[in-house]
Amino acid sequence: MVRRVRTAVLPVAGLGTRFLPATKAMPKEMLTVVDKPVIQYAVDEAREAGIEHLVFVTGRNKGVIEDHFDRQFELEATLESRGKLEELEQLRRDLPRAGQTSFTRQQEPLGLGHAVWCARDIVGREPFALLLPDMIFKSEPGVLKQMMDAYEESGGNVIAVEEVDPADVASYGVVARGEGPDSGFSITGMVEKPSPEEAPSNLIISGRYILQPEIFMLLSEQTVGTGGEIQITDSMRHLMDMQPFTGVKYEGRSFDCGSKIGFLTANVVFALDRPDIAETFMDELRALTGEIPITVEE
Ligand code: G1P
Repeated sequence: MVRRVRTAVLPVAGLGTRFLPATKAMPKEMLTVVDKPVIQYAVDEAREAGIEHLVFVTGRNKGVIEDHFDRQFELEATLESRGKLEELEQLRRDLPRAGQTSFTRQQEPLGLGHAVWCARDIVGREPFALLLPDMIFKSEPGVLKQMMDAYEESGGNVIAVEEVDPADVASYGVVARGEGPDSGFSITGMVEKPSPEEAPSNLIISGRYILQPEIFMLLSEQTVGTGGEIQITDSMRHLMDMQPFTGVKYEGRSFDCGSKIGFLTANVVFALDRPDIAETFMDELRALTGEIPITVEE
């Protein structure tokens, strides 16, 4: 029997400089894909996978995330009195139950590994999921659920991976693939943001992890890695000497909402999946693309 994963850590302390001026006073995690904040996608995915406790590692200017996961009595009363029961129901569905959220602060931007380490006392000595909310997915079931299924078999640590163009590996953590099918294969190595020449494959770490609590012991050494930051990938590589790591090449598609193109593409794809707006939006897109002159290369 593997130990059940009940807790998820969501690092949300990043400054979001790539989205200025939108993120001057508002956290990047509250930017919306269609009409839902980016952070809500990761929270929904975690809850679908059976997560019961969400630990947010926040920073300055992130208070509105805490408000988003709280009740809004005035708003609820207004929706109710106006008969907007569908919207009310949606708000209630999105909300974790009382006591299911914790917030802690990363006081300095020292890297992803440091952000995760800030959650150590709240997580305690249990396996936990780690979701980087910039990455959202269109997949059925959710990526974390697919990983939980692999975890039931393998135990240990699990990482979601996907293939990218070999030229793009330098923006990500990259794993080396060992034996096993896409639904659960052994990981034999990993490196953070390698050059295409150094990369062991084109399988990148997609921002979803299931980790054993021993990772905190390694993170506490706080060794600085790529980009002068404390990297989770470095501690995971050390943990590989003690525990197995399983890769899951998940079924679905990712959108990196930390980049403008990923964020805009997510908005288009998720909007086209919404029965209430898909058709009209598609008409608009068709009209728009028809207006754009297409240059034909000689
Ligand atoms: C982080 C991780 C990296 C992973 C990526 C996914 O990098 O360090 O291994 O591939 O998230 O988005 P960051 O995007 O924070 O630079």
